[in-house]
Amino acid sequence: MNSSTQNIPAHTQIPRHIAVIMDGNGRWAKKRFLPRVMGHKHGLDALENMVGNCASKGVEYLTVFAFSTENWRRPEDEVSFLMGLFLQALQKKVEQLHKNNIRLKVIGSRERFNADIIKGIEAAEALTAANTGLTLSIAADYGGRWDILQAVNKLIAEGETEITEAAIARHLMLGDAPEPDLFIRTGGETRISNFLLWQSAYAELYFTDTLWPDFNGQSLNDAVASFQKRERRFGRTSEQLPADQQRS
Ligand code: IPE
Ligand code: IPE
Ligand code: MG
Repeated sequence: MNSSTQNIPAHTQIPRHIAVIMDGNGRWAKKRFLPRVMGHKHGLDALENMVGNCASKGVEYLTVFAFSTENWRRPEDEVSFLMGLFLQALQKKVEQLHKNNIRLKVIGSRERFNADIIKGIEAAEALTAANTGLTLSIAADYGGRWDILQAVNKLIAEGETEITEAAIARHLMLGDAPEPDLFIRTGGETRISNFLLWQSAYAELYFTDTLWPDFNGQSLNDAVASFQKRERRFGRTSEQLPADQQRS
């Protein structure tokens, strides 16, 4: 079972699962005297590069925060630009992902998306479902609290009378994936902003001032190098770890 509190995950040099809060698009644009939304456009390019770079490193799961349950609070024109960009990406970028053997998933509530976006998501997921390369999960209208609640509500609907940790873990949006090993946030803020709350219990957090549109292959290498220096104890003492996992 994929639960860091119930089993100690296998140790790997390359994180099996990387989660990213892609933050700083607006500030990237502002620095260039461009409208905020131009930052989102360049952010999409950075994401394409990130997918390729993760795939070539052998990362198995990449989960990116594209739109939070709280981002609906933004000005209407920014929200509608983001929805338009999402739809465009679903229509224009998925073919290439498919060619690269990438499996695409969209995690989050779909209730507030328009019919075209929902159709685009379903088509993209169906097209890429059998791919065996990197699994790319786009978190859109996603919140960590929402995720835990939907898991619990599914359990209730199934008639479960005793809610266990394992049952919740299984019903989360990423229930079939290992938990994130490396959790990156760009853009300088050092907070989680309601991303993968449950799944990040033992994730290695990495914060960088780099704004998301500037995040490139070297930035990823730096993040992975930082990850490789961490001693992941999962509650144990350093002395209990195999010698090759001790870092001090
Ligand atoms: C992250 O960049 C993208 C989304 C939240 C959609 P921001 O838009 O939050 O950029 P900043 O934080 O304002 O610079
Ligand atoms: C988090 O960034 C959400 C995404 C990157 C999609 P925000 O910019 O919305 O986070 P806060 O509001 O600064 O915490
Ligand atoms: Mg932000």
